[in-house]
Amino acid sequence: MKQLKEAILERGTVLSTGVLKVDQFLNHQVDTTLMSEIGVEFARLFENDQVTKVITIESSGIAPSFMCAHQLQVPLIFARKKKSLTMNQATVYSSRVYSFTKQEYSEVTVSKELIEKGDRVLLIDDFLANGEAASGLVSIVEQAGATVAGVGIVIEKSFQDGRKKLEERGLRIESLARIASLDGSTVTFIDEIAL
Ligand code: G4P
Ligand code: NA
Ligand code: NA
Repeated sequence: MKQLKEAILERGTVLSTGVLKVDQFLNHQVDTTLMSEIGVEFARLFENDQVTKVITIESSGIAPSFMCAHQLQVPLIFARKKKSLTMNQATVYSSRVYSFTKQEYSEVTVSKELIEKGDRVLLIDDFLANGEAASGLVSIVEQAGATVAGVGIVIEKSFQDGRKKLEERGLRIESLARIASLDGSTVTFIDEIAL
């Protein structure tokens, strides 16, 4: 997606650790115009997939998924990473997610009331790296007896194995920007290298 790639090149910064910082438009400050365009693009890509719900993880997944759910006219669920006072363990689906960036586990939860058998759930997230977060969401959808309709990712770090993990589960993944490398503090997109 052209506008997104321009934002990454012009407003993103590569940290030496192979991490792309996009606090200017996605992870801290939100470019609402760009997020709306991203949501419209996700909705277009999955318009024929009978999506009944969109699911993401707080906090950075919410901005890019909001307009997608709005366009598809379905609810948006954000899985929680912090325990909520009003939710007890018996009433939630949960999945333990390991973060390689933070080197810690977190418990991701969604209230059982929110996903039904027969739902076709579209997963949206800001980053796909090792696929741990997305796999956690897939597990939650499956615990509910619902189906994952597809996976929409804003920025895929294609040099990590998240896509491979999800494809092995038979899932369709649509990433709006696919980064082949962050080496030498330079962003190289997948469609710019000779395959
Ligand atoms: P994984 O889910 O694909 O396995 O990724 P990983 O554990 O490595 O990522 C943990 C967190 O770091 C996630 O956010 C993920 O979106 C984010 N992340 C991974 N790689 C990058 C990167 O290169 N740049 C940026 N900006 N973020 C990255 P989170 O912990 O869920 O945080 P948030 O949603 O509260 O922002
Ligand atoms: Na994040
Ligand atoms: Na995220």
